Amino acid sequence: MVEEIIPEITIKDLGHDGRGVGKLNGYTVFIAGTLPGERVRARFTKRKKKFGEAILEEVLDASPQRRIPPCPVYPACGGCQIQHMKYPFQVEFKRDRLVQAIYRIGEAEDFPPPGVYAAKKELNYRNKATYHLQGNNAGFFSRQSRRIVPHKKCELLTPQANLIKEGVEELFKGRKLRDGKKFTVRTSFSHNQSLLILDAAVKTQGGWEQIITHLNQENPELVGIFLQGKGKKPGRLIWGKSKVEEKMGRYSFQLGPETFFQVNPEQREVLLNKTREIVQGMGLKKIADLYAGAGVFGINLAEYAEEVMAVEISREAVNEGKRVVKENGMDNIQFYQGEVERVFAKLPRDIDCVLLDPPREGCHPHVWQIIEEKNVDNIIYISCNPATLARDIAELQPRGFRVERMDLVDMFPQTYHVETVVLMSRVQK
Ligand SMILES: C[S@@+](CC[C@H](N)C(=O)[O-])C[C@H]1O[C@@H](n2cnc3c(N)ncnc32)[C@H](O)[C@@H]1O
Repeated sequence: MVEEIIPEITIKDLGHDGRGVGKLNGYTVFIAGTLPGERVRARFTKRKKKFGEAILEEVLDASPQRRIPPCPVYPACGGCQIQHMKYPFQVEFKRDRLVQAIYRIGEAEDFPPPGVYAAKKELNYRNKATYHLQGNNAGFFSRQSRRIVPHKKCELLTPQANLIKEGVEELFKGRKLRDGKKFTVRTSFSHNQSLLILDAAVKTQGGWEQIITHLNQENPELVGIFLQGKGKKPGRLIWGKSKVEEKMGRYSFQLGPETFFQVNPEQREVLLNKTREIVQGMGLKKIADLYAGAGVFGINLAEYAEEVMAVEISREAVNEGKRVVKENGMDNIQFYQGEVERVFAKLPRDIDCVLLDPPREGCHPHVWQIIEEKNVDNIIYISCNPATLARDIAELQPRGFRVERMDLVDMFPQTYHVETVVLMSRVQK
């Protein structure tokens, strides 16, 4: 490791991941935990040809946007990146990042400024976390390495999730654990339930009874413990039930270990309302909800269309979507299980609105060709990654689509992640 002190450097800008960027005789240096306008002392950890990385040693001249981070392990833990920023500045940083991505990567020149919806709760908002077990502790990876940073409680999670994590730590104390073992705690805010999902690699020498009794005594809201399968081997329920109940919009979903669900219950309602505002009054006939999960958007928007087709790869999520549809007596939604890049092409033509909500990597490139073939006129793109959103906007513009509306909904305070909903409409055939 390169150990070299930078006695003084001025931070000029922020990188996409929230790190401060300074110049040392023209050489770019990234320093986590710093803010534009600050003068800091830092120490190099990496020196590459084009840029270097350094860690903050001392703030010599602080920005008015700096604050004391709420979490004591923030400087070391890789879970959060921007806790040192006052919350309104975090949102401003995200807005800027989004606009820059659309402008630079998306090559869009003329687009409306984004509506910005900050979170009311900047802490204790997350309903799901995956912990890594190492030594006697469970936690998240450090900023610098794949070693975990032990912590008492995570400020982004609920007290219940923190207690379950403590209980699991307690159980594995003193056992020789090889790295790579994980567990996930999923919590339902609306129903005060938690589910513990253990990685297949977790071995329990003490037997399940001990684990169940121990965790259940301390955590009455724990409804089940699920052991994930390995490879193609299915997982199995160890105790209780394998689902927690969560509400989105008017509907209740039973979420199993594999089903994706937006992690911030309050802000996901804002996200849903923004999509609702877009489709209301459009007079839609056919909506395709692609990368649908359990169909939370398609199901909630079904009243604004004659027909909704939802496509999702996870069988568990599709089964849940079908269950909700049946339970609510809805007759205008069809679920299709499979990959969007294969199934979308088989759907009927003349779809007037496509809702895209892909993972961070963005949409599969086949999607653009199929959008043309199906005569799609409107696309609602829900994205958790401005870089891939912008890349996909760059694909759609030459096909005659323009950005008509953009809303940034802050789903992930304290982290650099940005959630956006964009409406693109076809202006040329
Ligand atoms: C960001 S999540 C959105 C889910 C849903 N719209 C929601 O908000 O709950 C992305 C979803 O895409 C699914 N997925 C990933 N790759 C896929 C693919 N190639 N084809 C279909 N679904 C896919 C994942 O299983 C996940 O449910």
